[in-house]
Amino acid sequence: MSEESIQSALEELRTRCTAAFEKAETEQALRDENAKVLGKKGELTAILKQMGQVPPEARKAIGERVNVVKTEVEKAFDDRLRTLQKRVRQAELDAPPFDLTLPGRVPAPQGHRHPISIVREEIITIFERMGFAVFDGPEIDTETNNFTKLGFPPDHPATDMQDSFWTTSGHLLRTHTSNIQVRAMSTMKPPMAYIAPGAVYRCDDDITHSPMFHQLEAFLVDEHVTLAHLKGVLAEFAERLYGPGTPVRLRPSYFPFVEPGAEVDIGCVFCKKPDGTRPGCNVCKHTGWIEILGCGMIAPVVFEHCGIDPEKYTGFALGMGLERVAMLRYGIPDIRLFFENDPRFLAQF
Ligand code: PHE
Repeated sequence: MSEESIQSALEELRTRCTAAFEKAETEQALRDENAKVLGKKGELTAILKQMGQVPPEARKAIGERVNVVKTEVEKAFDDRLRTLQKRVRQAELDAPPFDLTLPGRVPAPQGHRHPISIVREEIITIFERMGFAVFDGPEIDTETNNFTKLGFPPDHPATDMQDSFWTTSGHLLRTHTSNIQVRAMSTMKPPMAYIAPGAVYRCDDDITHSPMFHQLEAFLVDEHVTLAHLKGVLAEFAERLYGPGTPVRLRPSYFPFVEPGAEVDIGCVFCKKPDGTRPGCNVCKHTGWIEILGCGMIAPVVFEHCGIDPEKYTGFALGMGLERVAMLRYGIPDIRLFFENDPRFLAQF
């Protein structure tokens, strides 16, 4: 092949392929056109292969020409590519915005309610059906509401820095939900029947204690309320939560804000036999009984501190730990599992 015919082939190629690039309407079409010229089996490569037939003295000039054409073709390709990409981008920008409220096309995996939420809602329902209403209050409260009005002496160990979280302003993270009793009784007149579920905080951290945990308090104040009413509510509660026939017993115990005070045990749910007997197991430490809450008749001094006449009114209060209820319900051995939020744990509920 002669020098002239190679030169004119190069020229023809250059014109033809820059025109083809301009006609390409998509990036893929453009890349296909480009491969026809510059690819391994491309036309320019084919022309270069014919260089062997060109007289040596003409090779330099043709080589230079090939490079010029190659650079021009590459530039034409880049220009067209940029134009096409800009066009796509502009179309995206001009399109109507995504409707983020549309339902997903792939069904998302469903979440699970946290075991503490399940237990809390169940207990709230049981008490609501008995006529109690939810009363809410803050998790950061005054020493007065959390301790003093409840009859804790100022040097009580619970008020110690080691046991409670104090803020620099002299408030504290409530150590129990009993602050709600105080808040309700200080602002409202009896009769009242409330439950107060919520988070509480203590400086404690091991497999059965967490620095943050949940309690649910119930209290009822009216004329002529007796220990029998308290026991009746407890018996009803135990049967509705753990099944008919669940026995309840009260053991005398001490809390500064109740008199008399008691701890409540229910018949062990783990070693219960179909005939109703409870031979004992590891969970109940072979007693057949499991402690579930603290309770008592509201002490007259608490009524006085809250502006309620203790000669006229009596009442009871009870408080339970929701983690404890959930651990017993589901056989969960370590309280920290509730707060680590490991999906393998949470997906079981
Ligand atoms: N507030 C007590 C506690 O945190 C529980 C309790 C509540 C006891 C109401 C008696 C009456 O341990």
